[in-house]
Amino acid sequence: MIIARTIEELQEARKRLNGSIGFVPTMGALHQGHLSLIQQAKRENDYLIVSIFVNPTQFLEGEDLDAYPRKEEADRKICEVAGVDIVFMPTIGQMYERDELCIGAPAVRGYILEGEKRPGHFDGMLQVVMKLLNLSGATRAYFGKKDAQQLVLISQMVRNYFMDIQIVPCEIVRDENGLALSSRNVYLNKKEKQRALSLSHSLKRATKMVMQGEVNVNIIKKEMLQVLSETDRVEYVAIVDRQLRSLEKVEIGNTIILVAAWVGKTRLIDNIWI
Ligand code: PAJ
Repeated sequence: MIIARTIEELQEARKRLNGSIGFVPTMGALHQGHLSLIQQAKRENDYLIVSIFVNPTQFLEGEDLDAYPRKEEADRKICEVAGVDIVFMPTIGQMYERDELCIGAPAVRGYILEGEKRPGHFDGMLQVVMKLLNLSGATRAYFGKKDAQQLVLISQMVRNYFMDIQIVPCEIVRDENGLALSSRNVYLNKKEKQRALSLSHSLKRATKMVMQGEVNVNIIKKEMLQVLSETDRVEYVAIVDRQLRSLEKVEIGNTIILVAAWVGKTRLIDNIWI
């Protein structure tokens, strides 16, 4: 396994890969959610590149950029065992110059839901993902449905900019209790972890209602909010189509139900694709 810390090292190592390349961009502190993307990319491609880069431009002022968990040693071992060919771990200086040109997230899809609560987050995210996808020269790039809006926006960017790469959506990995795995879960203490389950419980409740024939989004949202009363603050509950347009009625096969809520000092998101 090659560790590339500079663009030159990455390009040098990539030249030696002759075949299809799967790419998994991450911010490190790897867990089973990341690993499932890595394993899928491994199965579906001849070679595998993983990037680990805590991207400063997608954190807003006052967010957890400094506190964000960094576990370089453990991450390297996980990649090694998973059969990764190249781990790209650049410095900020390698990735950015001063006063960069930046394409923005579209006004609607980039500034609702997560983008409304974290204005500018998706601009920074798209900026780094564009760079990483270009650098990887990959055939396919793997993204989790856990970050649903991120996935929708990346797919749109690739489409709008005619980028020659296939975006592969991957299923959400949860712990045995249903909590969606996230690098930020390390911030939760035992009691908070218990209360955090109300996010996935609310989504389960919604799914059950849909299965029983309820399609009215207001009725479903109301019920979800009840379940979410265990959290400290709900930021949003949204029922949208796969392009993030709001819906009045759930459309089976074309709906995403999303939730964002605070438990203690931790902001959590979860969703389900119906
Ligand atoms: P990060 O939060 O490290 O996530 C990297 C990838 O892992 C994303 O595609 C995310 O959706 C996926 N992932 C995280 N938790 C998951 C889970 N429980 N199940 C399935 N997939 C999961 O997302 C980012 O980093 C960054 O925004 C990035 C795309 C790397 C750009 O900086």
